[in-house]
Parts: sequence; structure tokens; C-alpha cells
Amino acid sequence: MQVIPVVDGRRGFGQTARRDAWWKTPALIFVALSLFVVYATWAAFQNAHYAFGPYLSPFYSPELFGASSHAWLGPKPEWWPGLLPFSPALIILPFPGLFRLTCYYYRGAYYKSFWADPPACAVGEPRKHYRGEQSFPLILQNIHRYFMWVALVFIALLAWDVWKALWFADPATGQVHFGVGVGTLVLGTNVVLLACYTWGCHVLRHVVGGRLNEMSKSPVCEYAYSCVSGLNGRHQLFAWCSLVSVMSADLYVRLCSMGMIHDLRLF
Ligand code: FES
Repeated sequence: MQVIPVVDGRRGFGQTARRDAWWKTPALIFVALSLFVVYATWAAFQNAHYAFGPYLSPFYSPELFGASSHAWLGPKPEWWPGLLPFSPALIILPFPGLFRLTCYYYRGAYYKSFWADPPACAVGEPRKHYRGEQSFPLILQNIHRYFMWVALVFIALLAWDVWKALWFADPATGQVHFGVGVGTLVLGTNVVLLACYTWGCHVLRHVVGGRLNEMSKSPVCEYAYSCVSGLNGRHQLFAWCSLVSVMSADLYVRLCSMGMIHDLRLF
């Protein structure tokens, strides 16, 4: 039998035998995620131009306190600490934000892109030890299983926003009419993509699949499991599509509110 010697050689940072452009994907992800974080942070701090007619930006939904007619509990409360900047988005965005940050797909993506751990498969990384997600601080990523439930509630709330985006007030008479505008389609597409992303969550797959080490025999659970598994197989696709759609929906409402574009009523 032929014996092939195995050499235990640790690669230096970026060293690899790969000949393909392995750096392209992590570089692209770095740019795309950075752009999203910069835009979302900027939009969240604006506290303006987040609503237009029946449309509400998904970054500001649900609007608990705020100046628009969509606010559930009225304007900025008296007790709000003066030193803290106020924006309805800052109150709610940590929930979907942490859901996305702790997502299994995004973890794999930003570990590679942002701290090169490793930069790509079979490419040398800049550190010698691997502590993994079993110890602090990455063990906190396990909160994903709780944030999934919150994200499911957000999907219901955003779907409610789409329903409200179907009712337009006549500026002359004040009467409300059923209708569809481009903004309705933008918000509707966003909630569909967000739902496909959230319902394809790895945790939800376990929840609907059955108990520990045992698949459920219930036909309803089996059907739900196959649906969630189907979405989970395209989780990466929906992760990116929903990221783009949520940003586009905010931008659309913002530009309409600023008078830079006009919302087209389809009927
Ligand atoms: Fe990505 Fe749960 S694994 S949302």
C-alpha cells in the first residue's frame, strides 16, 4: 500500500494552494453588508420622511411613538431622556437587527468577510486558536432561537402595514378608498421576501420538525417541515433579496415623502 506523508504545515494569513479568485465573495459581502449597515443607521437616525400617505417605512414599523399618523401611542413621550437621540426606528430596529446578525447564514458570511476567520475555505487565517461559538462572546449567538419568535411577529406587523397601504385618503374629501400604488407593491414585495427569509430559518425548521431526535408523525408538521426546508435551501438567496428589499422600501417611502419622486397610483 502506498503511504502518502501528511505535512502539518500551518498556513500564514491569506496563504492558500487555491488558484481561483476566492477573495471575491468575501470582498463583495464586506462591501454589501457595510453599505447596508451605513444606510440603515443613517435612516434610523433621521426621524423624518419615514411615512407617506398610507405607507410606512419598514425600518420604522411598528411605530410605537412618533410624529406620523401611524404611531400607536402618540408622539415622543415626555419621559424620553433628553440625552438620548429619539427616533421611532431606534426603539424597534434592534430586534430585527439582532435576528439578522445572529442568523446562521450571516454568521458564516461575516466571519469570513469581516474578520477573516478564515477568509475562505482552505485559506490561511490571521490567528492560531479557534475558540468557536462555545465560549464568550460568540456563545451569545444562541439568542437567535429567541429572536426568531420576535421576527415572526414583525412579519405579521409588516403584513398589516401592506394592508393599510391599500387604503388611500382623498386629499379633497378626506374619504378613504381602496387602491394600489407602486408603494403598495414595494411594501408587499418586501414583506414576501422577508417572510421567505424568516420562515426559512434553521431554528424554525427544528421547531416544526418534531421533538428532540424524533421527527413528528403529524401530516401537518411533515408538510410544514418540507415547506420550511424548501425555504431553508434558498436561505442565502432570501437573506440577500430581503436585505435589498427592506432598504429599497425605506428609500422609496423616503423619496416620496421628500417629494423627489411621485407615487404612481395603479388603480
Ligand atoms: Fe438565518 Fe435563522 S438561520 S434566520
